[in-house]
Amino acid sequence: MARLLLLLLLLCSAPVLAQVAARHYTSACASCHLPGIHGAPRVGDTAEWERRLRSGFNLLYRNTIEGVPNTAMLPLGGASLSEAELRAVVDYMIAASAPSATALAEAARYDRLGITDRDFIRQDRNHDGMLSRTELAHDPVLAQNLARFDVDGDDSLNEREYLQAEAVLTRERAAVKAEDAVIDAAVRKALSGVKGIDFQYAGAEVRDGTVILKGIVSHAVLALQAGDAVKRIAGIRRIENRLVSGDQMGWD
Ligand code: HEC
Repeated sequence: MARLLLLLLLLCSAPVLAQVAARHYTSACASCHLPGIHGAPRVGDTAEWERRLRSGFNLLYRNTIEGVPNTAMLPLGGASLSEAELRAVVDYMIAASAPSATALAEAARYDRLGITDRDFIRQDRNHDGMLSRTELAHDPVLAQNLARFDVDGDDSLNEREYLQAEAVLTRERAAVKAEDAVIDAAVRKALSGVKGIDFQYAGAEVRDGTVILKGIVSHAVLALQAGDAVKRIAGIRRIENRLVSGDQMGWD
């Protein structure tokens, strides 16, 4: 009897919970995610959500809770909802975008790898849980140092090896003494290699070894690429990436 009641309760509560999530979505998230403005993935755009799902459900939840740096996606989506409520809203947005069963299975598979570092996930383009030489081609310094950090000798970096490499290379970079003017010149040169940055709107400042990237770039991915381009420059102690994406202001 108790079991029957529980089953009835579950059957009745699932649609109610979905309705609550739909209400939260409409009031807190739809302003960006329904039309797909300010760079937000449009709810209903199956291909876009399937692409994002390749990096797992966990990253979608985490980016919702912590926000996506350099974009209009603020922590908690700018809403005052609990983490559990936000997860339900994300589930609702995914369901409303009707991804295929394969895409959902892919997302679950990536979650099972247990990878959490956002930079690692971003660079793991084929979503196999490893960074290969091909995937690291945009980072020649790390690619050249791969053997040094490849503890298990498989000619690629798993998350643990990658994080170790980042920590060591960052320490080594900071240990080099370099004048701000020298760093500044190197930063400018590195940024000029990032296709799509308009120096009328974006630039860098160097103060006591700290590099501040600031201004506006057309898309959030350019902000990340700018960060990648400068992060190996010798003498830099810290990088503050304050670039914002213009699509966030409706510049698309
Ligand atoms: C002011 C606009 C805005 C609002 C409001 C907003 N978002 Fe977003 N959201 C964005 C943008 C922009 C992105 C894309 C960030 C990027 O470049 O990956 C995004 C991305 C996302 C993603 C995908 C993250 C990923 O890892 O790919 C999820 C999930 C999400 N938002 C959930 C929400 C939820 C839930 C709410 C409401 C509670 C919300 N958003 C409210 C702008 C918004």
